[in-house]
Amino acid sequence: MPENRCVQGIWTSPWLFILAASGSAVGLGNIWKFPYMVGENGGGAFLFVYLLCMLFVGLPVLIAEVALGRSVRANPIDTINDLHERHIINKAWVLVPYLAGLAGFLVLSFYSVIAGWALAFFERSLKGVFTETDEVQTQSVFQELISSPSEMMLWHSVFVVLVILAVGQSVTRGLAVLVKVLLPSLVLMLLGLSVYSVLVGDLDQTLSFLFSWKWNQITPNVVLAAVGHAFFSLSIGMGGMFAYAAYMSKHMSIARACSIVVGVDTLVAILAGLVVLPLVFALNINVDTGPSLTFISLPVAFGSLPGGQLVGSVFFLLLILAALTSAISMLELFVSWLHERFYISRLKASLLLGVGVWLLGFASLLSLNDWSDWTVFGYVLFDLLDKFTSLILLPVVALLLSVLVALNIPRSRLENELITRNPKHFKWWYNVLKFFSIPIMLVITITGWIGV
Ligand code: PHE
Repeated sequence: MPENRCVQGIWTSPWLFILAASGSAVGLGNIWKFPYMVGENGGGAFLFVYLLCMLFVGLPVLIAEVALGRSVRANPIDTINDLHERHIINKAWVLVPYLAGLAGFLVLSFYSVIAGWALAFFERSLKGVFTETDEVQTQSVFQELISSPSEMMLWHSVFVVLVILAVGQSVTRGLAVLVKVLLPSLVLMLLGLSVYSVLVGDLDQTLSFLFSWKWNQITPNVVLAAVGHAFFSLSIGMGGMFAYAAYMSKHMSIARACSIVVGVDTLVAILAGLVVLPLVFALNINVDTGPSLTFISLPVAFGSLPGGQLVGSVFFLLLILAALTSAISMLELFVSWLHERFYISRLKASLLLGVGVWLLGFASLLSLNDWSDWTVFGYVLFDLLDKFTSLILLPVVALLLSVLVALNIPRSRLENELITRNPKHFKWWYNVLKFFSIPIMLVITITGWIGV
């Protein structure tokens, strides 16, 4: 075990890990990204593959990542070093947690730009800009924001400062408390909004879009998008869950905790889909509009709701907090490592990383306007970072971590770590990971490299 390792606190109640992990999983990925991904990828076909991916790839891989994270009780980099020093794994694996940390860093750079959009919409909602608005007006509000580097820069900076301050704290303190209030409020809000949306929106078209599909719609691109989004949505392959698992009580069943997280994450995404899509169809907005879909459709609903100014403001506030609890986990890997290994204070470590995120985010927001001519493989920097992380980096890291767990860690050690009361559950997980999730990720990774 590395000598200079100090664990920063253990979550005493099993629920605290579940809350923090759900806080990481539930975020912009569920509310902003999921509805437009469904829209862009043909509806039902994407949803079907996505749900299968969550169950047969996402869940087994999440369990593997958490089992690894809890085994040594240190940050991911020291955990892998420790396993190497004890001759359980080969030296080359030491690189994997750095790749995971890099993924978190890169994702945060564009994630904070989108969280900045939510901040900007929060401000507009407070001011009543969306009162009795229509989709043409909300589209121009969105367009105005995207074409203003200075405004996007302002909100991006505000969000990065919030992240630095939040990650600077010990995650075992405030985070779970925040998520405990946030998650039920978010679910309630989405439930209420989905009822409204179903009542005023086009439910028939939504249902046929989501549930009638043909096998030939399941193209390699749809599968790639679904797997990539499952990783993104469950925060897999970025080391955040791995890092949080170090704080998890040893008495807790990892399989149960992870199943709850996957369930909550899927529920929030489906609810968000049920809020956004009926409105999109009723307003005749193009369903494959892309990243602006949620930001254009929802304000129209808030504009026509009684008390919509307040409802809209509360919604955007919840969205910002959900983004914040996800963003915290993206930096946790490197921050916990710098703190435990080099005794740098958490605040200084997050400041150091936050400046890098801020600069890269600056470049990616400029790529949406002033630098939009500058492309790589036909993508502006913002899209490139999104595609590269979701379709390549996350699947690669997730694949490597899964191979590490399934093929390199002794089975008896895993059995002890997982604590499932029913031995059949362990077998189920182990076999699915080995014979299904890993081959699928292998194919996806190769297709991702060829196709992106
Ligand atoms: N899962 C988060 C979301 O859905 C995004 C995220 C990715 C969080 C990677 C942490 C790590 O918004």
